[in-house]
Amino acid sequence: MTEETSAKMLTRLCRTDEVTPDTPLRVETGGEAYAVFQANDGYFFTADLCSHGPGSLAEGSLDGHEIECPFHQGCFDIRSGAPTAPPCFVPVRVWTPQVVSGELFIECE
Ligand code: FES
Repeated sequence: MTEETSAKMLTRLCRTDEVTPDTPLRVETGGEAYAVFQANDGYFFTADLCSHGPGSLAEGSLDGHEIECPFHQGCFDIRSGAPTAPPCFVPVRVWTPQVVSGELFIECE
């Protein structure tokens, strides 16, 4: 579903209540897979695919703002996408979520 809000084209990824700090969510839309996280200070989007290999970051475990990939236990900061533990050395892409009426949207390019 796409929706025009404040002259920006946004694509809905999920409801806010579908994601908790203990349960990140993988969402596929528009040919892309995103990992949606909730931390104490808000929501965060990263690419779901780990930059090191086939790991799904949405299937990893979140500790604060650090997501641990379930495949080789490399880590990333979900705020910046920066790698924080080997074997990950290449950042993953991040986006800033838009929260509208209890739903999370990503800004389309
Ligand atoms: S696939 Fe993620 S750490 Fe290797």
